[in-house]
Amino acid sequence: MNKIIFASNNINKVVEIRKILEGKYEILTLNEAGLEIDIPEPHDTMELNALEKSMTIYKLKGTSCFAEDSGLEVDALNGEPGVRSARYAGTHGDDARNIEMLLHKMQGIENRNARFRTVISLIENGRNKFFEGICEGTVAYQQKGENGFGYDPIFIPLGLDKTFAECTSEEKNAVSHRKKAINKMIEYMLLKDNISENKK
Ligand code: IMP
Repeated sequence: MNKIIFASNNINKVVEIRKILEGKYEILTLNEAGLEIDIPEPHDTMELNALEKSMTIYKLKGTSCFAEDSGLEVDALNGEPGVRSARYAGTHGDDARNIEMLLHKMQGIENRNARFRTVISLIENGRNKFFEGICEGTVAYQQKGENGFGYDPIFIPLGLDKTFAECTSEEKNAVSHRKKAINKMIEYMLLKDNISENKK
């Protein structure tokens, strides 16, 4: 099976992405690729952060790799927390405080429309290609559910009447931003593999 490095050690994302790519690609995390490195996300767009991560790994390893950056964009907060989703309340990855802060800012706000957005940067032979996935939904008034990570307990995807944290991983993966971006990436990779197979 083809191997590809996923420029992340975020176990939640790795588990989700492995499940989506099961049987198609073997995913290596940074640690598994022998890289003890924490890549910063210094930019103010998801595209540039994803590109920074994938290019850093490509320069170190010289093999195909991809990175993603995701976030929750809330209409009533002009797209916040967006690119700052992981560190909205100050400390990177403090999900509980991030949720608390978001619910606080949304107090009294009726427009709860929001979306999760994922941007993937895939580097092959030194060339970058972006893939985007969007999942529309609303911000709940209170937390519900135990599954998932990040803002899952307060995000209700369009078409369901429960939060992502109340969904099974199959239910979340059927509609999630990450799954949509990965599907686009896979379609592109499989198409390309077919074209080069046919040329042989
Ligand atoms: P980053 O992409 O690692 O910079 O962080 C994205 C942040 O967005 C995560 O720490 C979560 O807070 C949030 N996030 C991204 N995707 C999801 C998701 O599928 N569910 C819940 N929160 C998410």
